Amino acid sequence: MAASPLDRLVIAKPDDWHIHLRDGAMLRAVLPYTAAQFARGIIMPNLVPPVTSVEAASAYRDRILAALPEGQSFTPLMTCYLTDATSPDEIERGFREKVWIAAKLYPAGATTNSHAGVTDLGNIAPVLERMERIGMPLLIHGEVTDPAVDIFDREAVFMETKLLPLLARHQGLKVTVEHATTAEILDVVRAHAPRVAATITPHHLVINRTHIFQGGLRPHLYCLPVAKRERHRLALRKAATSGESCFYLGTDTAPHPVGAKESACGCAGVFCGPTALQTYVQVFDEEGALDKFEGFASLNGARFHGLAPNAETITLERRPCRVVSCVAVDETEVVVFRGDETLPWTIGSA
Ligand code: DOR
Ligand code: ZN
Repeated sequence: MAASPLDRLVIAKPDDWHIHLRDGAMLRAVLPYTAAQFARGIIMPNLVPPVTSVEAASAYRDRILAALPEGQSFTPLMTCYLTDATSPDEIERGFREKVWIAAKLYPAGATTNSHAGVTDLGNIAPVLERMERIGMPLLIHGEVTDPAVDIFDREAVFMETKLLPLLARHQGLKVTVEHATTAEILDVVRAHAPRVAATITPHHLVINRTHIFQGGLRPHLYCLPVAKRERHRLALRKAATSGESCFYLGTDTAPHPVGAKESACGCAGVFCGPTALQTYVQVFDEEGALDKFEGFASLNGARFHGLAPNAETITLERRPCRVVSCVAVDETEVVVFRGDETLPWTIGSA
């Protein structure tokens, strides 16, 4: 990493290990923002219908590549959406054919388009055994779905009742705990590293649960897992900036049309793609950890997934910048996380 002085960072181009790109007009509208910041990205499979077959993943990858504007490059890394009916042979075929690099576990009903997800982990035991055998990572949305469990406790209860037993049953399975939001789950990840890792989003580093209600209801700060208490936010900042290689970047950028967010029953998801790196680098700067930024953003995730870091570089500069506040999609728009702010860091030219 070259840094001279510390108001300019040149690092290997980062990857985003958790992205919702959607499809069609939304895909075309949001993809350029992700491709401007990231060289590669893990693409979430929660489309309607979900991406559950090798053919569907391959076709979706083609649509993403076709939506990329001229002059931009980006490598989509595909995932398989696990259901109760997923076959171990299909999982292995997609992995061996290099169509997908991981499988995504949505507990059925946990979040947007997860109703086709897994109802009981016992139903996918043969799939997990096969993944363990072939070295294919499992990406987990770690929340229980029982409506009787308080929404702020769903990650913690998942950790105790599902994650820890799963890690004990499958001691060789590579697992990423996605969008970690609690201090306790970070310690579980540490205790099981390096075969277990966690991604951390930009928004969970800067908001706690009170921000969602600050001066009125803020639908654009609502996502799942929902932001937790301040002590958890501080633990996330400590973990992300610690230099520990089990923590790496995953934005969970999740665009929804403004009407679906500002609604009587608003969708979960924060559209942070256009401001992700600016937010992350600001956090590392505030924590006095700019020297740890390249590891978190560009090295740790690639190492976990057995890939080389990107040869291309990106420059981040301490220079105030106003970013777009909304992205137009058809007749509507998507509101950008922190899009109404002047951000202290800017993505430079080369
Ligand atoms: O807030 C979220 N939005 N969390 C998820 O897990 C899914 C995502 C989406 O697809 O909108
Ligand atoms: Zn997500």
